[in-house]
Amino acid sequence: MAIKKLLQPFIESYRVFVWCSRFPGFTRWLFARGNRLQISRHQVHIPKLPPALQGLRVLHLTDFHAADFMEERRLEEILRISQSLKPDLIALTGDYIGYTPKYYADRIRRIASLKAPLGVFAVLGNHDRWQPFHNRIVQDFEAAGVTVLQNANRFIERSGARLCMMGVDDHEEGQPNLDAAAHGSHQAHARILLAHNPDTLFSLNGHAPHLVLTGHTHGGQINFPVFGPLTYFCKYVDQTGPGLSRSNGTYIYNSRGLGMSMLPVRIRCRPEIGLFTLDRKAE
Ligand SMILES: [Fe+2]
Repeated sequence: MAIKKLLQPFIESYRVFVWCSRFPGFTRWLFARGNRLQISRHQVHIPKLPPALQGLRVLHLTDFHAADFMEERRLEEILRISQSLKPDLIALTGDYIGYTPKYYADRIRRIASLKAPLGVFAVLGNHDRWQPFHNRIVQDFEAAGVTVLQNANRFIERSGARLCMMGVDDHEEGQPNLDAAAHGSHQAHARILLAHNPDTLFSLNGHAPHLVLTGHTHGGQINFPVFGPLTYFCKYVDQTGPGLSRSNGTYIYNSRGLGMSMLPVRIRCRPEIGLFTLDRKAE
């Protein structure tokens, strides 16, 4: 019974695949429509944000799965649009590759080419962790100037004001340690946490970042009218839904991500680039 429950999302996905193959014209239209990039813009209110950090723009990209169903030109489009938004810093929350390591070097090189004045920060996802060479992802990112935060943090400075970027290892496949990720920071600091899987938030241990950026769920990827998604693969998002939520003053964002896994289709779930602007004014 437990196995059947575990396999249910795959069985449902296969049914969708079979159904789609019967109507190729409609399916092509549906694929194209569901796969248009969307830029999601959000204001994050931080009451005691230092004036020097007012208006700071954080770009969030996640779940590329760039070696599975993402065409090269789509990846280039994502990178071009991301850079054109002129973010102050870029946050990457995992699943860069996916099931097939075939294009690993090319895709990682392209993603690692992202640049922002205050830096590019990354954590790994479960799909990255599944790869036997996940340490190489860390090395290649770091060599290109991307800071990988595996249960670690970095303070960045703008005109003397400090912002703490925190990152945790993947909830399912890694060894997340939020105490280590928050080490040396406290609630008076402006703090942003990167976590691939929102289920990490069940063990925040009193650490209260101002903003948490997450991925993993793909927003369900296939969202049926009325019934919604097959699954989020995530208990936290089962409760809150994807997108923006708030808990005790912390803004939590679960992105629909950019790529696809298991099936090369998104239905009523457009891929997104997140752009978050920090704002010290009251709501
Ligand atoms: Fe993913």
